[in-house]
Amino acid sequence: MSGKGKDSLLGNKIAAGLLTAGLIFWGANRIASIVVPDEAPKTPAIKITGLQTAAAPVAAAAAGLESIIPLIATGDVAKGAAFVQQQCAACHTLTPGGAAGVGPNLYGFMGTPMFSGSFAYSDAVKDKAKGNWNYDNINAWLAAPMSFAPGTGMSYAGIKNVQTRADVVAYLRTLAATPVPLPAADEIKAATAAAAPATPAAAGAPAAETEPSIDTLFATADIAKGKALVMQQCAACHTLAKGGAAGVGPNLYGIIGAKAFSAPGFSYSAAVKSKAGAAWTDDTLSAWLENPMGYAPGTMMAYPGIKNAQARANVIAYLNSNSDTPEKLP
Ligand code: HEC
Ligand code: HEC
Repeated sequence: MSGKGKDSLLGNKIAAGLLTAGLIFWGANRIASIVVPDEAPKTPAIKITGLQTAAAPVAAAAAGLESIIPLIATGDVAKGAAFVQQQCAACHTLTPGGAAGVGPNLYGFMGTPMFSGSFAYSDAVKDKAKGNWNYDNINAWLAAPMSFAPGTGMSYAGIKNVQTRADVVAYLRTLAATPVPLPAADEIKAATAAAAPATPAAAGAPAAETEPSIDTLFATADIAKGKALVMQQCAACHTLAKGGAAGVGPNLYGIIGAKAFSAPGFSYSAAVKSKAGAAWTDDTLSAWLENPMGYAPGTMMAYPGIKNAQARANVIAYLNSNSDTPEKLP
């Protein structure tokens, strides 16, 4: 296996991946953040061994890698989703049956045999493919792929922050028909005990379980907050300005009142065709944005949804204002 051949193969894979994913437009500025990670590793690459054994938490702790196990249940799924969209989606598809890109499709991989999908894995990971993906080995892999499997085709620096890793894994586990169980109480106890400085930074309360109807929330909607969320979570795929070009998704100027999934020149997925044509209302938009993949299973909009009703009202109020003819919201 010559290094040179591998480089050009990777180059081809990247080109093909970007084309298939339709990410050309979006890729240009995102690739930079992949190739140049946001933070330099604080510690030199650690060689982690023995992770597939039952002693994994101990081995991980001994190598100085903080366990994510105590942080998964309270991990911020929305943050994890946003991070994955930004840093992983250029190489990985996330929807059921999604095509491989530069890397394998990631739907439902947790709990299944490691590096064993229908993908041409590098030799580097072949002898690491022992056992199933669990919270320990995914933690080690995502912290430092190139230390976990030197020579891996996943040229990604790794996620150094343990809370970010926990958020990402909390999101990744939801990408499955039946998500793997959250860590059990005794696993959490063991992992917490193994880590000297336990840091459950989990003060942020998860979204309320019972949410009021969105109609009652427009009165208190905060357009500036809605805009900020859109810039952070949607603008990577959608332009907002009048006449803006389509990106991964269609332009969103004047979307409320516009015919759903009907922007000229954009090729929508088959998944949304049956929902196309009716004018978007605050209610249909709310349903779509709460859970795109539930609203139109198989949609290309790889976005988990805005679960918090007030945040959704904020976003809809902003989208409504971003129009020549804003409508009167309830
Ligand atoms: C530059 C492209 C690239 C980026 C960015 C990237 N990956 Fe990967 N990923 C790969 C490749 C290629 C493989 C296959 C590894 C091999 O064959 O060596 C892989 C493998 C994986 C696997 C193993 C899947 C299996 O089939 O067992 C997981 C899990 C994974 N990546 C998650 C992530 C996550 C999460 C992120 C973002 C934090 C990410 N990757 C970022 C290219 C990438
Ligand atoms: C990863 C890229 C991506 C992200 C992130 C994303 N979208 Fe989308 N969006 C798409 C794609 C692709 C479609 C087209 C859906 C299809 O064809 O299945 C779409 C469709 C839509 C539509 C329907 C447009 C029409 O023409 O009727 C709306 C509205 C929308 N997105 C709003 C949002 C909002 C608001 C956010 C952030 C909260 C968001 N999207 C985040 C990719 C994305």
